[in-house]
Amino acid sequence: MRPHRVRTVRRLARAVVAASAAVATLAFGLTTTSQAANPTLREAAEPTGRFIGTAVNDGLLSNSTYRNIASTEFSSVTAENAMKWESVEPQRGQFNWAGADRLVQFAQQNDQLVYGHTLVWHSQMPDWLENGSFSNSELRTIMTDHVTTQVSRYRGQIPRWDVVNEAFNEDGTFRQSKFYQQLGESYIADSFRAAHAADPSAKLFINDYNVEGVNAKSDGLYRLVQRLLDQGVPIHGVGLQSHLIVGQVPGTLQQNIQRFANLGLEVVITELDIRMQMPADSSKLQRQAQDYRAVANACLAVDGCTGITVWGISDRDSWVPDVFEGQGAACPYDENYQPKPAYEALRAAFVEAGGGDPGDPGDPGDPGTGSCTAVFTVSNRWSTGSVVSVSVRTTQALNTWRVEFDLPSGVTVASGWNGGFSQSGSRVTVTNAPYNGTVSAGGTLSFGFQTSGGAAQDGTAVSLGGQRCAAG
Ligand code: G3I
Repeated sequence: MRPHRVRTVRRLARAVVAASAAVATLAFGLTTTSQAANPTLREAAEPTGRFIGTAVNDGLLSNSTYRNIASTEFSSVTAENAMKWESVEPQRGQFNWAGADRLVQFAQQNDQLVYGHTLVWHSQMPDWLENGSFSNSELRTIMTDHVTTQVSRYRGQIPRWDVVNEAFNEDGTFRQSKFYQQLGESYIADSFRAAHAADPSAKLFINDYNVEGVNAKSDGLYRLVQRLLDQGVPIHGVGLQSHLIVGQVPGTLQQNIQRFANLGLEVVITELDIRMQMPADSSKLQRQAQDYRAVANACLAVDGCTGITVWGISDRDSWVPDVFEGQGAACPYDENYQPKPAYEALRAAFVEAGGGDPGDPGDPGDPGTGSCTAVFTVSNRWSTGSVVSVSVRTTQALNTWRVEFDLPSGVTVASGWNGGFSQSGSRVTVTNAPYNGTVSAGGTLSFGFQTSGGAAQDGTAVSLGGQRCAAG
């Protein structure tokens, strides 16, 4: 297994293309920058230096839609459950790494980071630990052995770990977990020391919920972190889970991120979701989008905030309805894996902070792969313009699409429909509109536009997702 993620020169080249496409778009004012570039979330996040992650449910990786979104939209993955103690050591001394290994392998195949979650937590402990009686020294050994075993297994492959999870009560005192009750506060420092010894390159986090704003709980966390730093304990980051409610993003979120960053720590938004009372409606979804954007903006405004992970891809898979009766719709994709306004808002926040990235521009002159067939028809023409309709049949199911082609020199797109249009020189890039991104295998996407400065040519070569289509 290879270490961490490698950035490629190609990505830098893409950023340049993105910038020029965005400029061209603004020049003829057809779309906003984000619509023009239409990058994936991970492409949008890349120039900001932040990762965009998702919790991954191991059982859903066999679903091709889920798998495709997880790999193409996100640059980091967190195991929703597969790395928890009950999953990896269901019987004392008997380890099951299958789910955790699968996720690490998935990430490596897809050039993604893995965010390790979680080592020492009062919840989802195996029965033998939850219900077992151990002397204090035995429990301390069990705990540090567990940390050592798990972090060692993925040494060099998991750059960030939630070492201790949910150690606090709402009033900022320590949660009376088995570890705290028997070992006192020192269980925290010991866990971090064991993790650091097992992988000195990993950044070690303490993670909690309801600590997003400045409040009694985050004050308690802040004081603990200060103490740990004073004692030389190897702690490198704070995870703000961010299980939020629509309309209730704390006004002090950025201030809170900043105060932890000022201690020299990384901050990560580790488990973002924003739930609402069901049924969802368009005004709640719009408000949710604003809230997603506000959270992203708060992170992006602070240098030390290095990434955002959403806690689940789609509303279909979210933990929320199981736990909060009558609430849901908390994720960036809906029940049918369609991107919601929250998705667009998250992406727009990254695009605005760092510049868009439309992906490989492709070359309509390249030999095709046979995965699409395009019909480029000029339905009306005159000396200074034309009307064009384009339809592209795809053999592969799509969640979003990007079509490119070249117009004759001096010819530009004056207006377009059923897509977002941008032009850089003669190259035109068209991305799906919010309502027509999904195309089933064997289905057809279509859009149209009007030119100025001259007419387009019938049968112009077209590429889909950087690959040339056969002429239909
Ligand atoms: O594995 C069993 C399965 O054998 C059984 O058939 C099934 C029946 O309900 O349950 C399965 O266990 C479930 C487990 O997820 C694995 O899928 C539990 O019921 C379910 O309660 C558990 O929920 C997880 C929850 O943590 C447990 O606390 C959620 O999926 C997961 O999203 C959630 O994640 C936590 C973070 O780790 C920490 N922060 C809060 C966040 C939300 O609660």
